[in-house]
Amino acid sequence: MSIAKKVEANLSRTSWIRKMFEEGGRLMEIHGPDKVFDFSLGNPNLEPPEAFHRALSRCVQTRGTHLHGYMGNTGYPHVRKAVADFVSAEQAMALTPEEVVMTCGAAGALNVILKAILDPGDEVLCPAPYFVEYGFYADNHGGVLKTVPTHPDFSLDLDAMASAVTHRTKAVLLNSPNNPTGAVYSASSLENLGALLRDKSQEHERTIYLIADEPYRKIVFDGMTVPSIFSVYQDAIVANSYSKDLSIPGERIGYLAVHPRTTHKTALLQALGLANRILGFVNAPALMQRVVAEVQGHHVEASLYARKRDLLCDGLARCGYSFEKPSGAFYLFPRSPIPDDVAFVQALQKERILTVPGSGFGGPGHFRIAFCVSDETIQNALPGFQRVRALFP
Ligand SMILES: Cc1ncc(COP(=O)(O)O)c(C=O)c1O
Repeated sequence: MSIAKKVEANLSRTSWIRKMFEEGGRLMEIHGPDKVFDFSLGNPNLEPPEAFHRALSRCVQTRGTHLHGYMGNTGYPHVRKAVADFVSAEQAMALTPEEVVMTCGAAGALNVILKAILDPGDEVLCPAPYFVEYGFYADNHGGVLKTVPTHPDFSLDLDAMASAVTHRTKAVLLNSPNNPTGAVYSASSLENLGALLRDKSQEHERTIYLIADEPYRKIVFDGMTVPSIFSVYQDAIVANSYSKDLSIPGERIGYLAVHPRTTHKTALLQALGLANRILGFVNAPALMQRVVAEVQGHHVEASLYARKRDLLCDGLARCGYSFEKPSGAFYLFPRSPIPDDVAFVQALQKERILTVPGSGFGGPGHFRIAFCVSDETIQNALPGFQRVRALFP
């Protein structure tokens, strides 16, 4: 074999999400797109806001020297300033542009952060269920992802987290609102986590970072807000992107923001800038940086996703499915009516309903439905969901 053994092994464990997405394409060719109900991928179906299109047109029309050229690895100063001002309000803490690095999406931000902080064998703790790419990201930089169970309602289990921290722990990686569960971690659980990490950092005499992956921060329902991570812990880094809230995941634009009072801040910021360069990103896309600077505060209507959530939750509850109602993001993570979630997902597939087994997210006994699809897709899939539910009384 010419390719790396590790990559070869990873290829054979191809992600369930991709597998289902590809199956969707195959079924659509056979049956037609309206006969396939594809809930496999978190690819937002809402149009980006008008403000995005207007800003994009303006930026495309602009001429100037090096407007499409290389720049400092951390991004344009005026863009970092616009983001720092916005994050200052969001996190209730004043940030300077130096504390912001523009990145290729949240995925780019997470890889840059992990590259900057991990030594070989360092552990990254993550509450499960979790976004499955995290394991690959930690491994990319010599780290090891260790999952920590959550409570049955997917809230943080602080006792489990406390037991999981060792002298190898370098970071805790949180995702709220969560993919795949839609859970938003409460302010009090985050305060307790902050206190725990302060104690553990002292005990093990090393900085344990708290990384908050927040691409769904603006997609929350029923008046929910996502608590500020910077208010609860000083050695915190936010990874974020415009993929989900502006519906532009293909454009690969996001950022990371470092707590203004983080320990060893200068060294950390230098490491992050270097990591952005040497991972081959060099800098986040120039055109998109200029566009997002102009649309800070704009986002898709979360209420449209709330409507889809309600349509789906009401319909599935009527069929006898049980689940925690998501507070944010656009995923539902119901309990599988049978213990074997893969078998259940395969039964749904026979009705041309494509979902992803919870095992793929460290949440066996569940399955994930990405409801960032048209209302018609949800409505038209409900009879199929009902038929499959009836197979397993
Ligand atoms: C929890 C989570 N983090 C990160 C990402 C990656 O997002 P981006 O497109 O901004 O890289 C995703 C994408 O689905 C996600 O669900």
